[in-house]
Amino acid sequence: MKVVIRDPKKKAPRCGAYVTFATQPKDVAQKAVPAAPDEVRKAAEGALAPTGGAEGALAVAPLPAGSPAERLYVFGAGPSETLSPRKARALLRTVMKMLEKNGETSAIVDFPFALERMDLAESREFLLRTFLLSAYRFDRYKSDPKKTPELARARWNLGRGAWTDVSRQDAEREAREVAAVAAVSTLVRDVGNTPSNDLVPRHFAAWAAREGKARGVAVRVLRKKEIEKERMGGLIAVNRGAAEEPRFVVMEYRGGRRGEAPVVLVGKGVTFDSGGISIKPSEKMGEMKWDMMGAATVVGVILAAADTRLPANVVALAPLTENLPSGTAYKPGDIVRFRNGKTAEIDNTDAEGRVILADALDYAGQWKPSAIVDFATLTGAALVALGLEAAVIFSPDDSLSAGLISAGERTDERIWRLPVWEEYRDNLRSDWADMKNTGGRWGGSINGAMFLKEFVPEGTAWAHLDIAPTANYDSEHAGYPNGATSFGVALTLRWLRDRLALRRAVDGP
Ligand code: BES
Ligand code: MN
Ligand code: ZN
Repeated sequence: MKVVIRDPKKKAPRCGAYVTFATQPKDVAQKAVPAAPDEVRKAAEGALAPTGGAEGALAVAPLPAGSPAERLYVFGAGPSETLSPRKARALLRTVMKMLEKNGETSAIVDFPFALERMDLAESREFLLRTFLLSAYRFDRYKSDPKKTPELARARWNLGRGAWTDVSRQDAEREAREVAAVAAVSTLVRDVGNTPSNDLVPRHFAAWAAREGKARGVAVRVLRKKEIEKERMGGLIAVNRGAAEEPRFVVMEYRGGRRGEAPVVLVGKGVTFDSGGISIKPSEKMGEMKWDMMGAATVVGVILAAADTRLPANVVALAPLTENLPSGTAYKPGDIVRFRNGKTAEIDNTDAEGRVILADALDYAGQWKPSAIVDFATLTGAALVALGLEAAVIFSPDDSLSAGLISAGERTDERIWRLPVWEEYRDNLRSDWADMKNTGGRWGGSINGAMFLKEFVPEGTAWAHLDIAPTANYDSEHAGYPNGATSFGVALTLRWLRDRLALRRAVDGP
């Protein structure tokens, strides 16, 4: 789908659908079709009369000749003029499904609401990105996919809601950037939704290399030999149960000043997590094909940074393996030695994410990063703590943490902070090694973060995002389709851009 910005005062080709939203019926007739002739207003009023424009109601009416579209769609959105981003996402998904169901291929969208927590520019980005992603489908494994046509073109009205005070030129530039981010998010979802038989570590690495190189991003893929040579004992240990070799992806995007310390992003890439010898119950085990969403997120961020020519240096690291039981698998009681020389007693082979991330965090040190941010579907306990509405952020660094949280609020990829106090380190105490890889029943997510903290290069600002709650959903949720959400891509780009803006404010342009 292509979205263009439309000036309602200018003549344009006629569309199939004119989409607007009701707060109250009278209101719609007055305001929803501001540039349309009286007949259109009449059509809106007539169409809305039976439902009163209540939340969730939908009115469809033909529009007379000479109006900008053939049919008017009015979606009831409740009485408020401000929507939560979550509600807006759900609403746009409903709109998209309705348009597709009715076979509409072109639409004008007139979105009159302001959004909570976001300024107008952030709202514009959020709404366009969300609208583009609301058409997401993953049907490549269906022999007979639903043949409903896709909405090919949307014209988004200037002069309404978040588009009240923006020039067409600026709005169009924004829309082009948003389209790039949405396209990358689609790739991230696709790779996430691909089943693990078609996405083993070497497939993931090949995907990252192909997409990276196409954008001029430097990509290096470490194979098993090189991983061994690097003494990444954690990644090697987890991989021992798998027939498929591990990979370690290194991507470098240099859009910033020469010599400027990069941000290093690290993502957990377990292409399937059976738990290993500490095997998981079989119910819902299939969901563990999404255990590589952290890796997909960091690759997505770097691809989008390249596509939008972000003036920053960014590195993405992704350790990749399956976690499977076999005669050669790593076992509870084993002691693993990591790249940084520390040792850990494996208490539970299902706590594998932290074991592979340990080496990656340490490896990140060679870039002398200005910050390290890792993304991982690390613990079920994060879901227990926060449900489906937020991921967990851990960071000893208040300002890094505040920056990421704020970026999440303004992209509606919300994160909530839990502590990484030294007191929790006791939970990891081992009789035999420097630490255990689990920390008992209480504070499960925190214990995971405490383990990672042991491997963060000394003196480096670091944040860990446990995205298990939000990386994928097992059914449609809050306007997200089931499956991968691409959570974290928009948040991280927002954060990277915030940092640049902050620096410009301090240093001058
Ligand atoms: N990949 C899982 C975490 C997970 C669980 C993500 C549910 C999404 C949904 C991770 O590798 C894992 O198994 N963690 C264990 C840790 C425990 C053994 C300390 C968990 O959460 O049970
Ligand atoms: Mn696991
Ligand atoms: Zn896992």
